[in-house]
Amino acid sequence: MDVRKKDAIKILAIETSCDETAVCVLEASGGPPAGGFKIISNLVTSQVKVHAPWGGVVPNLAKREHQKNLPILLKKALKQAKLSFKKPKIDFIAVTEGPGLEPALWVGINFAEDLTKKWKKPLLGINHLEGHIFSVLLPEPKKIRFPVLALVVSGGHTELVLMKKWLKYRILGQTLDDAAGEAFDKVAKMLGLGYPGGPVISQAAAKWKSEVRSANWRTKSEIKFPRPMINSKDYNFSFSGLKTAVLYKLKELGNIDEAIKSEVAHEFQQAVIDVLILKTMRAAKEYRVKTIILGGGVAANKELRLQLAKSTVNLKNPPELLIPEMKFTGDNAAMIALAAYFRWLKQKRSVFPRTLKANGNLKLA
Ligand code: KG4
Ligand code: ZN
Repeated sequence: MDVRKKDAIKILAIETSCDETAVCVLEASGGPPAGGFKIISNLVTSQVKVHAPWGGVVPNLAKREHQKNLPILLKKALKQAKLSFKKPKIDFIAVTEGPGLEPALWVGINFAEDLTKKWKKPLLGINHLEGHIFSVLLPEPKKIRFPVLALVVSGGHTELVLMKKWLKYRILGQTLDDAAGEAFDKVAKMLGLGYPGGPVISQAAAKWKSEVRSANWRTKSEIKFPRPMINSKDYNFSFSGLKTAVLYKLKELGNIDEAIKSEVAHEFQQAVIDVLILKTMRAAKEYRVKTIILGGGVAANKELRLQLAKSTVNLKNPPELLIPEMKFTGDNAAMIALAAYFRWLKQKRSVFPRTLKANGNLKLA
């Protein structure tokens, strides 16, 4: 959709909540549903290689990398957007204020605050999870029908969120312990598959499905893991028990070859998917939602995408399922810019906070 030049605004967005440093320039005009927006520049630098030897994100290393990467990304983004570095024609700056790793969040916030002072621009703090919900609209606007049910699954969160309109959130349920992505990361570590766990577990699981299973002439896995809280009446999740079940199974199995490893990965992944999908379908029915949104790093999981799509079309009066493009599943600043645009439309300049505070546990509100 075109951006109406007459009233177009430009947003500079910064995201540093975990291990990706990201900067985006977004141009937008009008309001939803008639508005338009366009990504002018969207840059992400992953720190995966820095954290991989430690088997997880090290907050102080993340902080150092964000400090190093941000000025480089900013220069590049402004250049791509043909904006001057001294006094760029942007309307405001948006930055992730939480949830996430506080030392990492502070780097983005301090950097954004320095720029707002230098350029005399307003600053808007954005919730990272809100960004993941908005990621399904990227790279171009889509019309959305409400009520919407969002399943946000990332390294730090697993939440089922009901939305009757944009920017209004009701948390139906969330994880009581580990997040879905965190469970992938921990199980991958137990299997010696490396970091981050999601992609390596899903690769190993796919291998079992396509190669090992057929070679063994077995159609079903002999390894079984629990589906925690699958029968609970609420919409909460728990993945810590599943992780422990994998640990015990690995102890019982002793030395295992690649084939068994991939079988464990497959069964673990399926246990997570079963719980996520069952609860999402139940909430979709109960609240008669017209749209289901999947967001967060775990949304990159191919089996989850596929199986969620199958279950959704099997519902009575199937809602529309919106899944982000692969490149927008992980952390990026385009999703922050877009969420900021919607907030700007609602709040306008008057209520922009002057200073922000990193909040590792920031809730959707
Ligand atoms: O949203 P995200 O990039 O960062 C946070 O906000 O936490 O999510 C990262 C999480 C990691 O736990 C990673 O293992 C997981 O997303 N992930 C996946 C896949 N790709 C990334 N989980 C399952 N399957 C994948 N293909
Ligand atoms: Zn994220």
